[in-house]
Amino acid sequence: MTARRGRPLAGRVRVPGDKSISHRALIIGALAVGNTRISGLLEGEDVLNTARAMRALGARVERIGDGAWRIDGVGVAGFAEPAEPLDFGNSGTGCRLVMGAVAGCPIAATFDGDASLRKRPMRRVLDPLTLMGAHVTNAFEGGRLPIGLAGARDPMPILYRTPVPSAQIKSAVLLAGLAAPGTTTVIESEASRDHTELMLAHFGAEVKSEPEGAYGRRISLTGQPELAPSIVAVPADPSSAAFPMVAALLVPGSDIFLPDVMTNPLRTGLVATLREMGALISEEELRHDGGEAMAGFRVRHSALHGVDVPPQRAPSMIDEYPILAVAAAFADGTTVMRGLKELRVKESDRLAATADMLRVNGIDVEISGDDLAVRSRGHAEGGGLVATHMDHRIAMAALVLGLAADRPVTVDDAGFIATSFPGFADLMRRLGGDLS
Ligand code: S3P
Repeated sequence: MTARRGRPLAGRVRVPGDKSISHRALIIGALAVGNTRISGLLEGEDVLNTARAMRALGARVERIGDGAWRIDGVGVAGFAEPAEPLDFGNSGTGCRLVMGAVAGCPIAATFDGDASLRKRPMRRVLDPLTLMGAHVTNAFEGGRLPIGLAGARDPMPILYRTPVPSAQIKSAVLLAGLAAPGTTTVIESEASRDHTELMLAHFGAEVKSEPEGAYGRRISLTGQPELAPSIVAVPADPSSAAFPMVAALLVPGSDIFLPDVMTNPLRTGLVATLREMGALISEEELRHDGGEAMAGFRVRHSALHGVDVPPQRAPSMIDEYPILAVAAAFADGTTVMRGLKELRVKESDRLAATADMLRVNGIDVEISGDDLAVRSRGHAEGGGLVATHMDHRIAMAALVLGLAADRPVTVDDAGFIATSFPGFADLMRRLGGDLS
């Protein structure tokens, strides 16, 4: 797919539902007793794989309309043993969260995924789940998929300090902790997205979250709750909104509106950073639903300047560095993004893939240690062919680059965009973007 510079972007578009919330609504709905209704579910490949896994584990999961789903849950620790391996495709979130939920049930399951997911580290969730009584029956070198996991007969509550700030590790422990008697506690030195905590509370579990140190949190869950079925309205995904948002900032004359975007402060690091760079982004139509806050974002073309992005901001914008790097490629001066170690274990080595994406388009970029520096005089050359490495966010970031660069930008494979943002190209075209 190729993106070219064209007319200003304009209009009002709703990006698809939040991926993190969509996975959690399916999993927690499947662990409640009775009927949960979801609206606005992200119907991307990653989430559809989680829906299939919930069915394979015994929950009734039905699509009743556009983004509207009904789940008949089996109750905490009520999963049945799946007949076939569970295939999570490209999704680390689906795989790791379901590992947690399975670890609290007396069943065995095999977890698998595509070539990208098979490269990603799973020991980070298997370690705490083993402490809770689950057993790894087989795994590839270094704890890679495919992995056989036998859940605990008598799961034990633990107190666990996550070795890296990761909502996936935290969520796996909490979901396993649902089946354990007593209190399961997770301590993180830097707060990561708290959707699991908020949604468990929304379904009636007792969850406490307290500050820990300067940036961290201590989360305690009381085990063996009866989760009550619930109604979940999924807000628009800020990680998807990031792409049209940055495109509008970069394409001269643009003025767009993105309604219903989730504004959970543990997800809004990109907006804070773009504002520091001089971005004109305003919030309107603020509201709350299902424990999460959301707002409409008006975004206008803006002259950006380089900034220093501190490492503490990484958890609140961990998926947004490729698109921030694109914004930096059009910002006057140098932008330094610090503390990006976790980017190396995403859908691709996202630190290297982001740097390569910019480099093949004539942009001055340097990786030193875990930091990424981008230097620009306010415009980018383009003209490159970008290798996406099975990574949806690299593909979308590169196409946004092409909408504003001097010459067109092409990506080798736009197929993976459907994992998180089905309809991306159509939505960008509706705003006026030239994608073909
Ligand atoms: C996610 C957590 C993040 C993020 C991923 C979604 C989640 O991963 O990169 O896209 O929904 O919990 P880590 O928690 O491993 O940083």
